[in-house]
Amino acid sequence: MKKKVLLMGASGSGKTSMRSLIFSNNPASLTSRLGATIDVEQNHVRFLGDLILNLWDCGGQDAFMDSYLTTQRSTIFQHVGVMIYVFDVESREMGKDLEYYRDCLEGLKQHSPEAGIFLLVHKMDLVKLRGDVLEKKKKDLEEESKGVGVVVFGTSIYDESLYRAWSSIVHTLIPNAAVLSKHLTTFAEACSATEVILFERTTFLVIATSHVPNTNSTSSLDTDEHQLDPTRYERTSELIKAFKHSCSRLREEFHSLEMELHEFTAVLDEMTKNTYVMVVVHDPTIETAAIKMNIHMARRKFE
Ligand code: GTP
Repeated sequence: MKKKVLLMGASGSGKTSMRSLIFSNNPASLTSRLGATIDVEQNHVRFLGDLILNLWDCGGQDAFMDSYLTTQRSTIFQHVGVMIYVFDVESREMGKDLEYYRDCLEGLKQHSPEAGIFLLVHKMDLVKLRGDVLEKKKKDLEEESKGVGVVVFGTSIYDESLYRAWSSIVHTLIPNAAVLSKHLTTFAEACSATEVILFERTTFLVIATSHVPNTNSTSSLDTDEHQLDPTRYERTSELIKAFKHSCSRLREEFHSLEMELHEFTAVLDEMTKNTYVMVVVHDPTIETAAIKMNIHMARRKFE
């Protein structure tokens, strides 16, 4: 199944930077060396077996934008699964940015009316009062979208916000995400795990997680016992990517990881060709070997 992901936005808004961070695992500090994208750069990222993300990074200089909206219009806006439109939070030309954005919405309406639309208010690290700024931008952008359903995220390459946004976006592209989640929940119950998380192999984006019991409950007695940090996925991804990076510098390949701490045990291991699974257990009587065995036995079901 080929899904096209259009990455659009003004020149310098940060599209290529985010792509290089998420898909090529480059550190944020290297993004200042990126040149402007000329026309459209296409990348195919294999994601979960048959699912291939067909990523179109559209150079944002005016001449390119004009051509996407005229001569290349049908090529660009056909078969779009998702459009991600990036706005520089400090843009000095918001009027022009919005004009292009509205034109792109028109293009999508005409050629891919079903496409999901995600708006990233990017470079949030540059503003103070992030919450207020984002709320205001969100309201403006929703108004500009004139009734079209859009999801707005505030992002920055310097923290986990970019990761969270991309994980949510990719999640919407996975056709059987709900089923996956259900299977992961069954698997978590079978291992007496607190949580099971499935990551994509190269990007370490979160594909699906088991349903965590009790996280929303106010009355349960054991919620305090293992408080789950809301940024745990992004932080795990970040740590593992850094660790993988160190492994590759030592010319070692990363395969799996076991962590036994006082409060919990975590095992990260290959699940399928394109995924890693992480099992988090708070019961100290459960051995890591048993968890590994369970992962091993579950593999066939997830292939
Ligand atoms: P075109 O290829 O011309 O369309 O531009 P682009 O949207 O691909 O922009 P690019 O990724 O080349 O980024 C432009 C500049 O923004 C680079 O110098 C990046 O280092 C910087 N940048 C990207 N993301 C962020 C961010 O989250 N915060 C800050 N402060 N700077 C960022």
